[in-house]
Amino acid sequence: MDFINSVLVFLHLLGMAGILAGFMIQLITGHASGPKSILHSSLLQLVTGLLLLGLAEMGEDPVNHVKFGIKLAVAIAVTAVAIFNVRKPGNPLAITAGALTVVNVAVAVFVS
Ligand code: HEM
Repeated sequence: MDFINSVLVFLHLLGMAGILAGFMIQLITGHASGPKSILHSSLLQLVTGLLLLGLAEMGEDPVNHVKFGIKLAVAIAVTAVAIFNVRKPGNPLAITAGALTVVNVAVAVFVS
């Protein structure tokens, strides 16, 4: 179970990097791979995050449902913004997705 958890955290961190990489690609180059990277990575975050949460629920330690409720809401917002950004790319949309992602990193790290 520990190994599966590690694999999921690994993918979860790559997903975070993918959103921020897509954000940078879009802002710096305007290339279409930017919005796609943001969208695919945000979906990866939702899938890996929910699987990680499922594993945490199966463990013995208490789970902070407020923390993960906030993370889920923010991740859904990132995905929604990412969908709009693929349909009609715009720097404000990319910046919103990037900023919300940083919010989720802060929640992940600073809320216990
Ligand atoms: C944009 C979306 C997200 C970002 C940027 C993000 C970021 C992160 C980061 C940086 C970590 C590592 C924290 C650490 O190991 O100290 C983490 C862990 C984790 N995330 Fe996410 N996350 C996102 C979405 C989600 C979602 C939607 C869920 C589930 C509702 C979730 C559940 C978890 C869980 C269970 C962990 C394991 C470690 C812990 O207990 O905090 N994440 N996330």
